[in-house]
Amino acid sequence: MQENSRWHAFENADQIAVAACQQILNAAERAIADHGMFKLVLAGGKTPEHVYQLLSQADTNWSKWVIYYGDERSLPADHPDRNSVMASQAWLSKVSIPSEQIHTMPTEIGTELAAAFYQPLVSAALPFDLVLLGMGEDGHTASLFPGHQQNEDELVHAVYNSPKPPQERITLSAAALSTSHEVIFLIAGGNKQEVVKHWQQGADLPVARILPENPIDIYILREYLQTPATSDLSPDYCCQQGYALDSANQHHDNMPG
Ligand code: 6PG
Repeated sequence: MQENSRWHAFENADQIAVAACQQILNAAERAIADHGMFKLVLAGGKTPEHVYQLLSQADTNWSKWVIYYGDERSLPADHPDRNSVMASQAWLSKVSIPSEQIHTMPTEIGTELAAAFYQPLVSAALPFDLVLLGMGEDGHTASLFPGHQQNEDELVHAVYNSPKPPQERITLSAAALSTSHEVIFLIAGGNKQEVVKHWQQGADLPVARILPENPIDIYILREYLQTPATSDLSPDYCCQQGYALDSANQHHDNMPG
């Protein structure tokens, strides 16, 4: 498990979405004040959809936002299972981010070609301001799956044997996803309790290989956190909404500034 991690436990996915949306907007404000733009990497899957819907209602300087994707499925550009289609329908089509600042992964041109196309964009963008990620029941994140080998030098990988359909995808590498001022994991949906336990016990999972310099924020359903043995019970472990637990077992405010 990442040494530096802040676990934010919530009762339901709606609360996760509200808190994550607030952290994203705060990060945008800071980044725009600091260097005039906000470089955000989007997560795929289902969990972020509500965050994106909330963002579509936000009042922020959209002209300064630059959007990248952490991964994309190799499907036609308008396929409903594309991560870009979900993000567009929930959010991006409803706000005024200039279209040239929305960098979709063009997997419709072919997996290998799309990875080669995206690599220089990522290289020019690093470091990102914020990377959003999900996690699957097997500990995958973006399209980095357990047991898959990647060339360490690549920023973008072509994936041909994803256990989660479709088999072909492209994904940013763990190194690229780690090169960000902030990283937020959104963990809800499905049966993720076991894999969270393995992650916390130090298993070598893709999710554990995201290692930015700053602490990561993990927004997670409380039900996924283990109930410790009675002798281990401490008020710190049983976090309440409004408080979080970091990896050193210390409470801090749940809304990072
Ligand atoms: C994808 C992903 C993937 C996803 C997780 C969690 O394209 O499928 O980016 O890594 O984020 O599988 O997905 P859920 O939020 O739907 O559980």
